[in-house]
Amino acid sequence: MYRLIILFGLINATFAAKPIVVGTWVFSLGGTQSAWNDLKNGADGVDSLVSGCSYCEQGNCGLTVGFGGSPDESGETTLDALIYDGKTMDVGAVADLRRVKNAVGVAKHVLQHTKHSILAGDQATEFAKQMGFTEESLSTNVSTDMWETWRNGNCQPNYWKNVDPDPTQYCGPYTPLNRNNIRFHNIVSDSEIDIHLTHDTIGMVVIDNDDNIVAGTSTNGLRHKIAGRVGDSPIAGSGAYADNEVGGACATGDGDTMLRFVPSFLAVEEMRNGKTPKEAADEAIARISKHYPNFSGAVIAVNKNGEVGAACNYMVEFPYTVMTDDYSEPQILTVPCTNTPREFKGKYCAGNAK
Ligand code: GLY
Repeated sequence: MYRLIILFGLINATFAAKPIVVGTWVFSLGGTQSAWNDLKNGADGVDSLVSGCSYCEQGNCGLTVGFGGSPDESGETTLDALIYDGKTMDVGAVADLRRVKNAVGVAKHVLQHTKHSILAGDQATEFAKQMGFTEESLSTNVSTDMWETWRNGNCQPNYWKNVDPDPTQYCGPYTPLNRNNIRFHNIVSDSEIDIHLTHDTIGMVVIDNDDNIVAGTSTNGLRHKIAGRVGDSPIAGSGAYADNEVGGACATGDGDTMLRFVPSFLAVEEMRNGKTPKEAADEAIARISKHYPNFSGAVIAVNKNGEVGAACNYMVEFPYTVMTDDYSEPQILTVPCTNTPREFKGKYCAGNAK
């Protein structure tokens, strides 16, 4: 059993250690441990991060990472993953990866065996097969049931707007409304939908034994997304960002909104300009919530000294996991969020509910 330390309002100074592994949500405990074990066995930051995220992709982190969750409108689970290497400022990522389970492993092959940064869709699958990965279905009885329930419920909720038939009532196929005829502007905001669904990412930041900083993500995106939708997680600077000169950051939450603000990049740049990790994460979140106060998400920032800070919005609190030499097992820290909906106060814990 992991020993849990829940610290409300934790400030960045609590952890200042290297090497270090940090992961999003309580479900990252096992992944953080896996990454840490590999670090202690001499693995570098990239391999440690791949180990941590791969652990999650094997079905160990609930239904929002890896196979068997978040079916899209066609019923298929697809995967997004990213590795940002802060030593080389190089990126490997996959978006909308189909029929391959180890998305972060494929991202590592994009990083190490191509001059590209992101491969997407069926072509990413073909690449993965060339690299030796197995092609297999990502559906399970659970994801199929999710999809059938959604279809039988008139495809509610969904992510369409300004189309015919009315997407708040009916399934597609849809056609665009004539511009003069638009009836639905913001039928429902992304966040209003998202808060009831699950689309949480494993995000990790690792500082390895040589002080190299690596950040990355893995997710199956957003439940009932329109087929082909790519979120923030595989986008460099949005899902994760790292620079050995400064630190690293990763993000989780409402990716359609968050990627518009490249919050991981912003958090690292705020640290470059002298902010603490906590202040940097606060700024990255505030920049989004200024425009989208109901967006649900979180950012973790780690500076090159191994200090950690986090911030979040539209939840009660955001739990994340940390492992350093100071501890015998990964610790859970929790930070309170901004713009917590009144109805959540006192009864909703993001880490457990999601
Ligand atoms: N943050 C995960 C997603 O929205 O795809």
